[in-house]
Amino acid sequence: MSEMLRFEVISPESESYPQMIDLRLRILRLPLGLDFSPEDLEAERGNFHIVGYLKGQLVACLLLCPLSERCLKMRQVAVDSSLQGQGIGSDMIVFAEAFSREKGFSKMTLNARERVVPFYERLGYQVVSERFIEVTIPHFTMQKSLH
Ligand SMILES: CC(C)(COP(=O)(O)OP(=O)(O)OC[C@H]1O[C@@H](n2cnc3c(N)ncnc32)[C@H](O)[C@@H]1OP(=O)(O)O)[C@@H](O)C(=O)NCCC(=O)NCCS
Repeated sequence: MSEMLRFEVISPESESYPQMIDLRLRILRLPLGLDFSPEDLEAERGNFHIVGYLKGQLVACLLLCPLSERCLKMRQVAVDSSLQGQGIGSDMIVFAEAFSREKGFSKMTLNARERVVPFYERLGYQVVSERFIEVTIPHFTMQKSLH
């Protein structure tokens, strides 16, 4: 798997960007009956957009939103449904954390869907909130120090 899997940081002008939006819609939004507005996407322009390619196909993505000089929020983590459970999501987060450290960030925070909490725990994230509802489903805030 690993030699065929490649990650990169793209800009919203990249030709891969529409595929990233399509993946996010399919995996994260349409199953909840939700869409993106142009305002949602405009608000993300300053985020870091990370995508994963398997044999040249865009199959995974996430966003990193700077909250402060040292803290990033990880959002919109998605892996193509036919490829979930094979380590791609974990590899992508390891890539995102290394990128974040290089950029000088020392803390990652995220809102995890309840059933995905064990996935982030295995990657070293800890629950730091009560259970709450976001985009119609239960979530927990999780954090990890990047030191
Ligand atoms: C959550 C997700 C990003 C993980 O990526 P992945 O490549 O499937 O994960 P990995 O193969 O690296 O890790 C596997 C672990 O992730 C979790 N996992 C994988 N697929 C899952 C799914 N469909 N639902 C819930 N958890 C899942 C499991 O804990 C799994 O552990 P196991 O193999 O021991 O059962 C991916 O499954 C996904 O896109 N899910 C749907 C969207 C989503 O929930 N995004 C996260 C929002 S917070």
